[in-house]
Amino acid sequence: MKHDFDTIIIGSGLAGLSVALSLPSNHRIAILSKDALINTASDKAQGGIAAVWDSQDSFERHINDTLVAGAGLCEKEAVTHIVEHSTDALQWLLSHQVDFTRNESDQQLHLTLEGGHSWRRIAHASDKTGHVITQTLQSLLGKCPNIHIFEQRTSVALLTSRENASECIGVKVLNRQSGEMETFLAPNTVLATGGTGQLFTHTTNPEIATGDGIAMAWRAGCRVANMEFIQFHPTALALPNAPTFLISEAVRGEGGVLLRPDGSRFMPSYDKRAELAPRDIVARAIESEMKKNGTSHVLLDISHKPKEQILHHFPMIHETCLSHGLDICTTPIPVAPASHYTCGGVLVNRNGQTDLKGLYCAGETAYTGLHGANRLASNSLLECIVTGRSIANSITAGLPWETPAVYEHTIHISPAPASNSQPEASHAPNKNSLRQLMTQCFGIVRNDAGMQTALSQLKSWKAQLLNNSVAKDYAFPSRSVETSRKVAHFSASNCLQDSNLNEIELNNMLDVACLMLQCGLARKESRGLHYTTDYPNKAETAKPTVLSPVFS
Ligand code: FAD
Ligand code: SIN
Repeated sequence: MKHDFDTIIIGSGLAGLSVALSLPSNHRIAILSKDALINTASDKAQGGIAAVWDSQDSFERHINDTLVAGAGLCEKEAVTHIVEHSTDALQWLLSHQVDFTRNESDQQLHLTLEGGHSWRRIAHASDKTGHVITQTLQSLLGKCPNIHIFEQRTSVALLTSRENASECIGVKVLNRQSGEMETFLAPNTVLATGGTGQLFTHTTNPEIATGDGIAMAWRAGCRVANMEFIQFHPTALALPNAPTFLISEAVRGEGGVLLRPDGSRFMPSYDKRAELAPRDIVARAIESEMKKNGTSHVLLDISHKPKEQILHHFPMIHETCLSHGLDICTTPIPVAPASHYTCGGVLVNRNGQTDLKGLYCAGETAYTGLHGANRLASNSLLECIVTGRSIANSITAGLPWETPAVYEHTIHISPAPASNSQPEASHAPNKNSLRQLMTQCFGIVRNDAGMQTALSQLKSWKAQLLNNSVAKDYAFPSRSVETSRKVAHFSASNCLQDSNLNEIELNNMLDVACLMLQCGLARKESRGLHYTTDYPNKAETAKPTVLSPVFS
């Protein structure tokens, strides 16, 4: 089946919705989502959206906080662009009637605080900010006859033009309900597929977060950057038999403290900002305390705050913990770090344009330069909106295509599996083994030997996957990369089983894991979220790690 549109948006999270709702009403738009529309990281966002709103706050202050958290690696121009649009972004949400929490006294927006922010600037809807925003925006889609929604559609590969392999013309999609392969064609394709949290054993991310967009863009010829900077959220619920669930940083912003099992506080001895230091510092401190004390968690205590205040700001966290037998109003919460956010991604310019003409990218899939070596809390919802709206503007205004910046220190790598990667006699690759490997070798503290071991294992699994499955036909043009890129059509059967979805995702996860490790091995220093015992100090100059695909 073939569908034609003006713009295809792959992803129904805040990035995708921001593009869709900012395009003109006569523009024919397709929104594809791998699962149900609502199954996104955006829906799970708790803490809120950072924006300069308080009259005493300033863009300079927000910019500076972002740069400090980013440990010298943010692109200042991108930070300035995004932060200077933060007030407009929040105004845009308010204009769509998003119901944020307000002060009882004056009905102004209640602004909360999170780690790394020097001012109260996080607008939120209690602890369900993402759900309230996405529900409100999704309810508007029904009023837009130009927007067509395709749920349960897994994008499998980007299609490039027969004449020009550097031009994206659409995407090949697996319809999970019918098992049919479908072709979506459009002059504009927007990748907004979210992050990669599912590459690790414990994650706050939904199941859809398998890095599909980054893998597809890389295989189609886009550069990716800074994939070593995986943010581990310091405080995910760590109760036996309970699923990983985020305990918002706003809990610390509103006075929650981190405790050892004996009830003593430890953060002040790690950083003068204590519980509100940037996330990389808090996550490392927690991991170090867990190791020292031989425990699988530390404690986060907010029980000293008035019950009404806790229930008012954190109703979902309270209810979820209570469903596991824990009352946060009276008892400290066992917490441990969990993978949470991918700071790197597909290289874009400020209009979301990638290395492929016609291919835009926004949200967690993109590398805009905002986050540097560590994302400042609540800056990502902001980035989704600002980049999403810039993309819509670029499409509407027909802005010329400008490929993102050229970086002097770029590593050139072939996306094809190395021919010397022989499948080892080890067990067949599967998602759980990949997660265990990444958690062990690419967690909060790393070293070269571990990363090397993981990389060779992943390459061997990749070779095994391509040898043994149909993945080689639909998920990677492995036989002749050049020909497949030019032809840009699939040789695969037109009908696939849903079990193939597992292979499609595994193939993407393997590619993305290799990108992370290649970036990690290239960084000979410790900075922000990348901490390696082989190079514990920061280098004098901060440089992004840019990987460029080469097709021979
Ligand atoms: P997502 O919202 O994840 O949407 C991805 C979309 O892509 C989905 O529709 C999915 O179906 C689709 N997709 C994926 N692969 C495919 C494919 N192959 N084919 C078709 N569709 C595909 N950030 C903040 O700023 N503030 C917060 O308070 C905050 N809290 C968070 C709490 C949690 C628990 C989590 C997990 C993250 C939080 N973040 C927060 C981060 C933030 O929510 C995300 O970075 C952001 O929402 C990402 O939005 P997105 O649109 O890029 O991707
Ligand atoms: C949180 O509520 O702690 C998540 C905020 C974020 O990831 O930006």
